[in-house]
Amino acid sequence: MSTIISALDLGTDKFVALIGELVDGDLEVVGVGKGSSAGLDKGIVVNPEEVARSAQQALNKAERMAATKVDSVHVGITGAHLEMIEKNATVSISHSDRTIRQEDVLRVLDLAGSVDTKPDRRLIYAHPRQFFVDGQGGISDPIGMKGKRLDVQLQIISASDSSFDNLLRSVRSLGVTVASVVPQPFIYPHALLKEDEMDQGVLVVDFGGGTTEVALFSEGKLEKFRTLPVGGFHLTRDLTVKLNADFEEAERVKKECGLHRSKEGKFMQGEKMLVQLVAGERVQFDKKEITEVLSSRIEEIVEMISGELDGSQLPNADPFPLAGVVLTGGSAQLSGLGSFLKDNYDLTLIEERHPSQVEGLRDIIEDPRYSVALGLLKYGTGKRKGISLLDRDLDAKEKSGKVFQILRKLLGKFRLF
Ligand SMILES: Nc1ncnc2c1ncn2[C@@H]1O[C@H](COP(=O)(O)OP(=O)(O)OP(=O)(O)O)[C@@H](O)[C@H]1O
Ligand SMILES: [Mg+2]
Repeated sequence: MSTIISALDLGTDKFVALIGELVDGDLEVVGVGKGSSAGLDKGIVVNPEEVARSAQQALNKAERMAATKVDSVHVGITGAHLEMIEKNATVSISHSDRTIRQEDVLRVLDLAGSVDTKPDRRLIYAHPRQFFVDGQGGISDPIGMKGKRLDVQLQIISASDSSFDNLLRSVRSLGVTVASVVPQPFIYPHALLKEDEMDQGVLVVDFGGGTTEVALFSEGKLEKFRTLPVGGFHLTRDLTVKLNADFEEAERVKKECGLHRSKEGKFMQGEKMLVQLVAGERVQFDKKEITEVLSSRIEEIVEMISGELDGSQLPNADPFPLAGVVLTGGSAQLSGLGSFLKDNYDLTLIEERHPSQVEGLRDIIEDPRYSVALGLLKYGTGKRKGISLLDRDLDAKEKSGKVFQILRKLLGKFRLF
């Protein structure tokens, strides 16, 4: 049996629609469509009509390629308005046989989930990180187990009402159902991370266009995240000023020159490249000058990231986590970036990380610009660990099916629909 799954990543540089076909548990990408980014500010939907117009183009292209019509999509959500709360709760199991039942799980989740939200915010995602039965942790579904005491560690994400509504409005106007809305930091594990890395401590840096999303995982869970309002655009914009060139030309120069360095890691002296100025003339620029502009912006972004990590209670995080840093997003392709980071900062880079267990269209799977969309597709295959407010397509056969049913009830109880 085959199932069609679709994903939409609304980035500040481009919109991407992906269509995947799930056959006997194997996911194959069968359609891809891109549209230009529109109607967003730092990742947040501010003009739903503009977003819809461009997203429609992306979706139509993907549908044509896959020769299919999509009726529901998984969508990512990002932006500085997202907030995470972690709550723990405990209940005692008083049935005579001490077997944990569905109602006990509901009770403990209900307790953990009873958080006050401000009037202009809503809870959009819940992730039961783990249950404990009599102090024994690492349990994803405690129903049927025996014990006296049940604890849960619940992560809850809230979003600004208007940002969430605008996102839903733009996607629904495409004539599709929103299958789920997944906070971007919860997508990375599906696309890029291994469990042991998440246990040891790993940092995802999604170096995009208008934003850089940073997500820190430790002891198997998302520890913190931040959407920084800087990205590849800023590198390009810095070059437009330095070179007196337009954005398109500066973009070309950025991609061609990158962090141009010699084998010894020094910026190369003397090598030049031709740049077309706004006034029309073509002028030779020293590549070293270009590289210096790019590297000083990168240094600033790294400082912002380590500022975010400061104070994180991580083992051996000084300031970067033990297993390493996974770089993704289009700007991760800046040539020389990896070696620049390794040489100048005390960090381990986990390179060339692509989503595993995905087939088809190699150039998409291996391109870091598509990792969020691919992670969403994988989320859609049902192996998810958290639940979005809108998840309706949960398979009863799913491993943690019952817990998810309860969570869904719980999110419903928050009267968020
Ligand atoms: N080869 C390259 N070298 C340097 N930068 C590149 C390269 N290819 C793409 N980029 C940059 O990647 C950025 C776009 O990245 P990406 O596609 O991940 O953005 P996005 O997901 O749309 O945006 P965001 O995640 O910030 O909302 C652009 O700034 C672009 O210039
Ligand atoms: Mg992105």
